[in-house]
Amino acid sequence: VKWIEVNTYEEMSRIGAEIFVKQLMNKPNSVLGLATGGTPVGLYEILVQQNKEGNISFKDVVTFNLDEYVGLSQQSKASYWTYMHENLFNHVDIEEEHIHIPNGIAEDLIIECKEYEQAIESAGGIDLQLLGIGVNGHIGFNEPGTSFNSLTHVVELTESTRTENAIYFEEGEEVSTHALTMGIQSIMNAKELVLLAFGERKLDAMKKLQEGVIDEQFPASQLITHPNITIIYGGTK
Ligand code: F6R
Repeated sequence: VKWIEVNTYEEMSRIGAEIFVKQLMNKPNSVLGLATGGTPVGLYEILVQQNKEGNISFKDVVTFNLDEYVGLSQQSKASYWTYMHENLFNHVDIEEEHIHIPNGIAEDLIIECKEYEQAIESAGGIDLQLLGIGVNGHIGFNEPGTSFNSLTHVVELTESTRTENAIYFEEGEEVSTHALTMGIQSIMNAKELVLLAFGERKLDAMKKLQEGVIDEQFPASQLITHPNITIIYGGTK
């Protein structure tokens, strides 16, 4: 595990973005795994900038997002589809058909999960996967107790996750009770992982990760067994 401690959110974003820029320079048709949430916003800003300046192109890039809420249309403001378009896709030269986000309104969610997993495989697997971490060690929507062998699957959201995420939903819009998420194994299958964590809120999770005890009650702990993972963290002292 490559641990990189940083002092600021900007530094974390810059170092994380450098890994993605290098990846795209070395392999313009990379398959990227992407995350939502507050943490990667700064990294995406840098990628947009780098694309504008002509240093990287997304023309041949294929992306797979970690997760999506069940029951939200793409137009919903709370959907991860909207998040990704607002924070990255609308501002870079990516082809819409190269973008993959689990479809939370698929008629058959089980089939959707299977097909998502197959799509990752057909694309040749994920070259570089971006990750954030929940305060309880969740990765994607894989909450404590999720099997390390899990592939893309449907999850029931915990009450605490629903409460925490309620602010992103519009008034009158019901907070999803379920979500689709890549599993721990789907994430571990990526050739390289980059985990970002910043702030006091993540302090306990980062401590636990550093202790190195591998336990399904702390989903992120499996990541440290990955042969090529960089963890960029800070603001946690
Ligand atoms: C997002 C995701 C989540 C977040 C995690 C941290 O696609 O999969 O696991 O990475 O909840 O969220 P933030 O960055 O908002 O603290």
